[in-house]
Amino acid sequence: MQSLELFEATEQSQPQRLGPAAMVLRGVALPHVRELMPAIEVIEAMSPFRHMVTPGGFTMSVALTNCGALGWTTDRRGYRYTAVDPETGAPWPAMPEAFARLANEAAAVAGFDGFKPDACLINRYLPGSRLSLHQDRNERDYDAPIVSVSLGMRAVFLFGGHSRTDPAVKVSLHHGDVVVWGGADRLRYHGVMPLKDEPHALLGSQRINFTFRKAG
Ligand code: SIN
Ligand code: FE2
Repeated sequence: MQSLELFEATEQSQPQRLGPAAMVLRGVALPHVRELMPAIEVIEAMSPFRHMVTPGGFTMSVALTNCGALGWTTDRRGYRYTAVDPETGAPWPAMPEAFARLANEAAAVAGFDGFKPDACLINRYLPGSRLSLHQDRNERDYDAPIVSVSLGMRAVFLFGGHSRTDPAVKVSLHHGDVVVWGGADRLRYHGVMPLKDEPHALLGSQRINFTFRKAG
């Protein structure tokens, strides 16, 4: 485990620019993995991963939960943020300090100082799970960036334009990579291609993604 992390840590490279205010920060979450992993277990014990239904009636292949003051949900009535987990009737689990710190640091590297997320959506992908192109637009304002942290299996992230039909670049995201998009890129369409089963040394056949948002 130790040697794997050290090896991956050496893979850190220059930020990869995806737009005027969007970039991939390779491996910046690696030093935080030891704190993130047990925290996921605490969160999912309180608010389990579940397959939500879209307003159009489709069951998402990605399983979701949240931590933070607000959590993103969808059902037949629409997409929204709630303070209470509709499945448990209790507030979403608190956002661990280590999560907020990582998001704040990554945002700052990408040029967004003072990022204080109040919502962290946690997505769990299994082989075949995918996320179709969408915009993150349920937040109250778009001044704050989105900070997305990838753990586990590799995914092909699609980063498109401001219209659904604009061409999308494909970005391979690995364990520990962070993508930040805000400003002029805040409403770019994005998604994830169906995951291939390439088991990860630490997480096996799954990918966990956190997206940090300032929702309220
Ligand atoms: C999302 O758009 O909510 C998640 C993106 C990802 O899983 O990389
Ligand atoms: Fe998104």
